[in-house]
Amino acid sequence: MEIQKVGVAGCGLMGGGIVQTCAQAGYQVVALEAEEAFLKKGLGAIEANLSKAVAKEKIQQGDMDATLSRIQGTTALKDLAGCDIIVEAIIEDLDVKKKLFCDLDALCPAHTIFASNTSSIPIIAMAAATQRPDRFVGLHFFNPVPVMKLVEVISTIRSSKETARQATVFTESLGKSAIQAKDRAGFIVNLLLVPYLLDAIRALEMGLATKEDIDTGMMLGCGYPMGPLTLLDFVGLDTIYAITKILFEEFKDPKYASPPLLKQMVTAGFYGKKSGKGFYDYSAA
Ligand code: CAA
Ligand code: NAD
Repeated sequence: MEIQKVGVAGCGLMGGGIVQTCAQAGYQVVALEAEEAFLKKGLGAIEANLSKAVAKEKIQQGDMDATLSRIQGTTALKDLAGCDIIVEAIIEDLDVKKKLFCDLDALCPAHTIFASNTSSIPIIAMAAATQRPDRFVGLHFFNPVPVMKLVEVISTIRSSKETARQATVFTESLGKSAIQAKDRAGFIVNLLLVPYLLDAIRALEMGLATKEDIDTGMMLGCGYPMGPLTLLDFVGLDTIYAITKILFEEFKDPKYASPPLLKQMVTAGFYGKKSGKGFYDYSAA
């Protein structure tokens, strides 16, 4: 089967990047959002990203127009019916994801591959809720999707080899490098990254140093492009908090437990860059 039409559920930080990347690679893309206002915001962010690339002469105006013409935004689930692969990038909540996949399962033909971009939830928990666990994998992209080169391809104990192969070929057609991971909560990257990020919050919480010095330490000391507290704001503190709950529930290891400061910030509505405030202030941006 050749993948021609891609569905992306969720057009937030990650979904928007996946939509843009797939459309730039030449695929027809249907972007599903829960509400019209979120769809407008997500599509607007893609347009702004492409405009910046045109201004920097990275792409031509014609490329931008062609990319946008391949994207169909919708709030109607039925518009995903004709897609050959659907990549889910909605909020990190198992029940909400399961409901979406069950609805899609009833709608989509048997050949459609389902993929979740979850950061931490074992893929089998979603696959087992459908009638097509053999045609279900994880495709874990990284933020910002148009820039980051990696995708983790996660096969469950029910995924067929052919589905994993097709998902890998699809990933590579987007110009990304695929790595194969087993279906263990957090997969490869987040199993290692999340404890590091949480330790940075703990360091701040214990008064070890200022947030700026913690970030500078890891940037200049280790060559990371962003310090951990800036990266947390960039990923979204609400998303990181959801990830800690899933990883802690799975492993019962304190290194995955949410530091109290993270919980407090999420409770206060400080979600990071997306809400205008996290460890840093983005209200002027
Ligand atoms: N969308 C599209 N392109 C973007 C972008 C975005 N949101 N942000 C930056 N870019 C592009 C810029 O346009 C620029 O492109 P050109 O080189 O073609 O001009 C390029 O990226 C570099 O951007 P800047 O010069 O503005 O800034 P920078 O050099 O500081 O790089 C960065 C920005 C790429 C985000 C870099 O800081 C970085 O790599 N940060 C770390 C990101 C990271 O670790 N991501 C993983 C998060 S964890 C995750 O995703 C998994 C999970 O499950 C939580
Ligand atoms: P986000 O909050 O920016 O976007 C989620 C979007 O999903 C929202 O716009 C919301 O309106 C939409 N949505 C919610 N329910 C929906 C539904 N039923 N149908 C359609 N749309 C719906 O979150 P995000 O950061 O893009 O994260 C999305 C997923 O990607 C999560 O599973 C997250 O763990 C994962 N992820 C996040 C990052 C990151 O750095 N933020 C990186 C890799 C993976």
